[in-house]
Amino acid sequence: MNNNIETFVTADGSVGLYNKELNEIYHSKFGAKTESLEKFINPAKIIDNHPLDILDLCYGIGYNTKCALDNFKNINSVDCVEIDRELVEKSLGFHSDNRIKNSKFIHFYIQDAREFVKNCTKKYDIIFHDGFAPHKQSILWSEDFILKLSKLLKPKGIYCTYNHSKPVLNALFKAGLILGYGNNSTVASFSKDLIQNPLSEFELGQLNTKSAITYKDKNLNLTHEEIMRQRLEETKSSNLKTLSGYLKTHKT
Ligand SMILES: C[S@@+](CC[C@H](N)C(=O)[O-])C[C@H]1O[C@@H](n2cnc3c(N)ncnc32)[C@H](O)[C@@H]1O
Repeated sequence: MNNNIETFVTADGSVGLYNKELNEIYHSKFGAKTESLEKFINPAKIIDNHPLDILDLCYGIGYNTKCALDNFKNINSVDCVEIDRELVEKSLGFHSDNRIKNSKFIHFYIQDAREFVKNCTKKYDIIFHDGFAPHKQSILWSEDFILKLSKLLKPKGIYCTYNHSKPVLNALFKAGLILGYGNNSTVASFSKDLIQNPLSEFELGQLNTKSAITYKDKNLNLTHEEIMRQRLEETKSSNLKTLSGYLKTHKT
């Protein structure tokens, strides 16, 4: 594995990764497998009633794919997107899970997720979106990226992410999705009946404040630094209310 990546044992006994160079953890210290189950698999179980096409965006070492295989009865395909080939190759030995290694319905796309969403025409029942946090890697959370990603979701599909920051919620909202809570996470769908705990009007109102200004990356080719700089400029010149101003004037 890349010398910058260290392994550690998380609280549920599953192995997590930490990248020294990026100072970024790949998995929650409270449990890599638990996080996958609570934030991705369980919220998506609402549609385990027909052959599923699943998109695992930012496969890493594959907890979401592996837990999906353990938990969904009827899987048609799993497409896994990951930029780090070495990580994927090591992970296949790491999980020693022959289902992943030998499966005819699991496909790997070793590429930048931005290129994948630009070119993909397939539609999915379930999308797992597990990129690094936006303040470290905004390129996978821009409103433009999320709009393209939303086009890959079937009308009765469900999108799951651990992230619930306001710019990301706002990007999902602008893409026309209905937003809901997962377990300290976010679910979204074009189908109202798939969202059990929707955001309230009060919470949706918070998306019309400065703190919810989205990351922009029109041609899906900017660097993280360019996106962050552009958002800072937009925030400075914005006439929107601040979040604290909104909270003062609106009651729950
Ligand atoms: C938070 S970790 C995901 C953990 C993973 N779901 C698992 O079960 O191990 C984020 C992953 O995104 C990958 N990544 C980073 N930039 C990417 C990009 N532009 N396109 C695709 N994958 C990317 C990283 O290599 C890393 O494995």
